[in-house]
Amino acid sequence: MEIVFQPDGKRVRVDKGTTIMEAAVTAGIPLETVCGGKGICGKCKVRLIKGDSLGGDAKGDLVLACQTKLISDAVIEVPAGTRLLEQKILVGGVEKKIPLNPNVRKVYLKLAKPSLSDQKSDLSRITCALERKGIVLGNVSLDFIRQLPIKLRNSDFKVTVILIGNDLVGMEEGDTTDKNYGISFDIGTTTVVGYLVDLNTGKEMAVASRMNPQVVYGEDVVSRIDFAKTEEGLRELNDKIIQAVNEIIDEVSVCTENIYEVSIVGNTCMLHLFLNITPTSLALSPYVSAFKDPVNIKASELGVKVNEKANIHVLPTIAGFVGADTIGVLLASQLDEGNDVRLAIDIGTNVEIALGSKEKVIACSAAAGPAFEGAKIRHGMRAAPGAIHRVVISDGVVYGKTIDNAMARGITGSGLVDAVAEMLKNRIISNSGKISDDPEIYALYGDRLVHEGGEAAFLLARGITVTQGDIRELQLAKGAIYAGINILMKDLGICDIKEILLAGAFGTSLPKENAQVIGLIPDIPLDRVKDIGNAAGVGSKMALISKNERLKAELLSEKVEYVELSGRKDFQDEFMDAMFFPHSNLDYFPNVARLVHSTSFR
Ligand code: FES
Repeated sequence: MEIVFQPDGKRVRVDKGTTIMEAAVTAGIPLETVCGGKGICGKCKVRLIKGDSLGGDAKGDLVLACQTKLISDAVIEVPAGTRLLEQKILVGGVEKKIPLNPNVRKVYLKLAKPSLSDQKSDLSRITCALERKGIVLGNVSLDFIRQLPIKLRNSDFKVTVILIGNDLVGMEEGDTTDKNYGISFDIGTTTVVGYLVDLNTGKEMAVASRMNPQVVYGEDVVSRIDFAKTEEGLRELNDKIIQAVNEIIDEVSVCTENIYEVSIVGNTCMLHLFLNITPTSLALSPYVSAFKDPVNIKASELGVKVNEKANIHVLPTIAGFVGADTIGVLLASQLDEGNDVRLAIDIGTNVEIALGSKEKVIACSAAAGPAFEGAKIRHGMRAAPGAIHRVVISDGVVYGKTIDNAMARGITGSGLVDAVAEMLKNRIISNSGKISDDPEIYALYGDRLVHEGGEAAFLLARGITVTQGDIRELQLAKGAIYAGINILMKDLGICDIKEILLAGAFGTSLPKENAQVIGLIPDIPLDRVKDIGNAAGVGSKMALISKNERLKAELLSEKVEYVELSGRKDFQDEFMDAMFFPHSNLDYFPNVARLVHSTSFR
């Protein structure tokens, strides 16, 4: 069957019974798939212009791409809102200066040529020269010995040897020591970022990013785990991520042959998929992963297109839902080194929270759901052009700012936080989250207090509302996060936090004051709330250029105490209390209580 996608005009041939979603993937047109194709989220709606489907939908009907199987040639129109837009990806982070101590060394050797009075073997000639430089050798591969006779003589005995750890793995003719690169990756559920680093200087040479191509199989970790249940599903997800990693390598690098080391951070599920290990056990209590320790593996074994001898170092994890990305955040923030207690939060569909100082660090993961990424929110969308990301409400006037000042298409997670906080400050909602029916409020905002889909809603911009259901989703998400924070604070026996460090794209875009107003983060002075950008990516880079940081990562993986919230009796109470804006106990939020008009709290 031939399927044509409009307005792109892309044509693909697929078998009878293929879903529109599968055909769109083949055509390279990624669609929104918040629920991973389960027919729940309704974000994948397309218009069947021509052709027949198994359900016999009428021409011109909006149908769910993930549920509609085609049985004839067809023409499909993909509305702009269904198209998965390129998200603005956060690549930068607060860098830390650390001594250079990479796992890879290239050493130039000018060797004496053999003679009748010097009949040392080719290999001894090299090992002796290295020993003279104080380098203690580990293993020497057979491949290396095979190269020796020809390469030594071709180069007049002037060669550069490559050591990974203490193992001799390769040799290049002449002096190539200036071409020594590594690449570090942060593999997120939504985005993948790669940083090319000069291993001689530790300097970042280039950076590139992509949407994680696995998003078409579901936007959150749980949908991916579900898809990876079968061998084919797992293989498909592994292929996708390796392909994205290779595309990034192609984009950042001049000569991929000169990349000898790769470091990887990511959440535990992403690491499983990258290594082609089934993540199924992560979804089932007691949420155990297949591995926790660091993994070192040859790039060629995974199909990563760098020097075939290159080592891939996957950083260790802490628990099933606190992965190597959190280890990266801890390395970058040095949370475990200061005297003061600091809190690091990386907000995504899954939120990783770490709290501590040099005395002790504890961590937990809170299932915030996809609200912050725009899912389950009526007009929710990711941070792409046209997304409302800032909202100010004052004296009956509503200001909304969109990304790139494009026409409003939806609202981001940070836009939602802003909108709800502003609604709270202006008494449009109460602290229980209910949209007001107070005549006084109606007099000011009557034209914006509307109904959509059978529920009360507040109109932000033309066609874009915040509904009662959206507010409820935000309450669930922020309630889970704050409950997690409060439990960690109780466990650590503290009531004051010196600093809050917000990691990741959402944390960086979060309106700090309004995040406190809704009770998403603790109420401390704003100058002590800091963005640390893509700290996981920074941590990955640190592990690339320093063996000491790798060692530290291993120690952190052992020493950070993991708190499993689902096993806590007090979680439900903490969660219910934290569902209020900002909290049922205003003693936790003294500044917010002063800021927000007291009549909101009823
Ligand atoms: S309804 Fe199709 S992806 Fe969610």
